[in-house]
Amino acid sequence: MQNKKPTLWRRKIGIKIRQAESADIDAIYRIEQEQFLKPWKKDYFTAELSHDLSFFYAAQDVESGDILGYMICWIIEETMETHNIAVKGEHKRQGIGSRLMDFMLAKAAEEGVQEIFLEVRKTNIEAAGFYEKYDFKRIGCRERYYSDPVDDALVYALYLRHPKSTT
Ligand SMILES: CC(C)(COP(=O)(O)OP(=O)(O)OC[C@H]1O[C@@H](n2cnc3c(N)ncnc32)[C@H](O)[C@@H]1OP(=O)(O)O)[C@@H](O)C(=O)NCCC(=O)NCCS
Repeated sequence: MQNKKPTLWRRKIGIKIRQAESADIDAIYRIEQEQFLKPWKKDYFTAELSHDLSFFYAAQDVESGDILGYMICWIIEETMETHNIAVKGEHKRQGIGSRLMDFMLAKAAEEGVQEIFLEVRKTNIEAAGFYEKYDFKRIGCRERYYSDPVDDALVYALYLRHPKSTT
């Protein structure tokens, strides 16, 4: 009898997180266009490769070499700002975003970061679900922060040790 694979069979993907390189930019830009209402321009990604404050990492399928996601953060003294994260559509919900975030959290700890901030469109339910899983807390809302289409930004923070005292 023929051995049939179940219809929804998927091979388990081995992922490597590594520094992004100029050869990755086309693939990263395709994911960006697929995933965002108002994608970054390609030049922004190229600029991030050599920006002093930038931590720009790619998630690569170890078998095929395909780029399946990326994340860009800046570290300014004890603060990390998450500027961009996305995963290729058909590979969402397979833990790739988590691999990128875990990697950045480890970097943050290594660099002595105390707090991480990010903004997300109010309508972006999947990103909010993702950040909340990591215990990011909503600390504010910037009205009409985004354009094309206009949307509020929810501001999230994660305090790695303790909130800074203001007294
Ligand atoms: C946000 C994003 C990067 C998450 O990547 P991912 O690889 O799908 O995330 P993971 O598979 O690691 O998911 C980790 C957890 O996040 C949460 N999550 C992920 N997608 C979610 C969704 N659609 N709805 C609710 N929660 C979600 C879940 O808690 C999930 O854990 P679970 O699958 O065990 O339930 C991805 O959805 C994406 O690329 N979105 C489009 C780009 C974007 O909006 N980026 C954020 C800009 S601020």
